Amino acid sequence: MRSSPSLDPSLRVYETAKEASRAVARAFVDAAHQAVGERGRFVVALSGGGTPRRVYELLRSEHGRASFWPDAHFFWSDERFVPPDDAESNARMARDALLDLVPVPEGNLHTPLTTSVSPEEAARLYEQEIEAFFHPDRPRLDWTFLGLGEDGHVASLFPGSEALLHPGERLVLPVRTEAKPPPVRLTMTLPLLNASREIHFLVFGRGKREILRRALEPGDALPAQRVGSGTSRVVWWADREAAPWLPVLGGSNGPPRSRR
Ligand code: 6PG
Repeated sequence: MRSSPSLDPSLRVYETAKEASRAVARAFVDAAHQAVGERGRFVVALSGGGTPRRVYELLRSEHGRASFWPDAHFFWSDERFVPPDDAESNARMARDALLDLVPVPEGNLHTPLTTSVSPEEAARLYEQEIEAFFHPDRPRLDWTFLGLGEDGHVASLFPGSEALLHPGERLVLPVRTEAKPPPVRLTMTLPLLNASREIHFLVFGRGKREILRRALEPGDALPAQRVGSGTSRVVWWADREAAPWLPVLGGSNGPPRSRR
């Protein structure tokens, strides 16, 4: 176990998932303003699955008029290989909950192609789009959201998978898995994820308690344990249900907001 959890700013536990989601949204907005102020843009990788939806909804409902939206760019840390209007699409979830409801230019939504090409071609095209976006610099996301699967997967990097263990120089890879439907996916690889300035895990609910405890232990057996390197600041956001052994942060105020 890491140092004293109550002193570890990388572990932020709130009484409820809603309070935690509200605090994540505030931290996201603060980071967005800082990035736009320093670099003129804020580049995000959104996570899929169900957990982040409430954060996206709170970003719309409580921060939809913030000034940074026109300068924000959105990629996806992984995507299911389904049509963009499919109920299983991570891009569709983010559009429905947030992106189609805030003033982000359509050209700032960098969604992977999931129709009319093979998964292999889609991964190569997405990788080329990411490299071109950051050119001439190496790709470096400002803020990456990640969920935590009950087997410890992150994005679509599943335990023991080639995409997890042997990405080589690839930034995006196609994945076929029986671990979580839909079975065909595209995923950012650890080299790309770990180049992020900040990585924010969202882990809520009793069902994630055991895997969260394991993920926070030293080691690299789980994909989640391979996330974060010298250059990335990793923050774990949890509710009491997922992390009952950690102290809960203050009520609805949460950590002090930096001035903007
Ligand atoms: C996906 C996600 C996946 C998700 C975890 C947690 O496309 O399914 O990227 O990695 O984050 O499986 O999912 P929940 O948030 O639904 O528990």
